[in-house]
Amino acid sequence: MGYPASMHRILGISGSPREGGNTDILLDAALEAAGDGCELERIRLAELDFSGCTECEDCYATGECSIEDDMSGLYSAMERADRILLASPIFFMGLPSQPKAMIDRTQRYWALKYMLEEDFPYEGGGTRYGAFIGVGATRGEKLFDGTILTLKYFFDAIAVRPLVDDYVLVRGVDAKGEIASHGDALGAARKLGEKLSTAD
Ligand SMILES: Cc1cc2nc3c(=O)[nH]c(=O)nc-3n(C[C@H](O)[C@H](O)[C@H](O)COP(=O)(O)O)c2cc1C
Repeated sequence: MGYPASMHRILGISGSPREGGNTDILLDAALEAAGDGCELERIRLAELDFSGCTECEDCYATGECSIEDDMSGLYSAMERADRILLASPIFFMGLPSQPKAMIDRTQRYWALKYMLEEDFPYEGGGTRYGAFIGVGATRGEKLFDGTILTLKYFFDAIAVRPLVDDYVLVRGVDAKGEIASHGDALGAARKLGEKLSTAD
């Protein structure tokens, strides 16, 4: 079935292992704000069973990943999404193992682009966008620096244009659910959701 041009498919990915925690709450606020006009898909990485990249290098010749696990479904979701929104806590100044493993497994798309010189197998048309919501307990200026750099190369590999200026980066939130009463963090997440649903 085809979709009207304005009906974006938004893939929301939660990288937190803590179900119902700050990341999940922020992601839900963004997806709810994206509204009924979008097709929403929400995935919690911690519920999937997949490994990190084994550096077998098979994808360098094929553009395909040889590992058979739950990344197969996630690859398909990435290929049909018009917008990809990753939400994650910060662990040890970077992404937790689940989202980092997911990103490493997109090496197949990096190989497709830079070794095989083929286009990303996007099922839709036009520009697709990527965004990020991050949350951490501390307040350091550099808290998100490493993650933003990783995301730059991740989004390049999967052919999305990063809405870097709109990333929602929340500092000083630690306890489960604390985000709900933390300034206007949910408002910022909602604003990002709206932007994702309307950006052309
Ligand atoms: C293993 C681990 C490492 C963490 N490392 C950091 C860190 O480097 N910097 C930071 O600000 N917060 C760190 N935190 C705190 C989390 O980012 C914070 O509790 C966040 O709100 C958790 O979000 P969640 O409820 O979505 O999982 C760490 C938490 C854990 C469990």
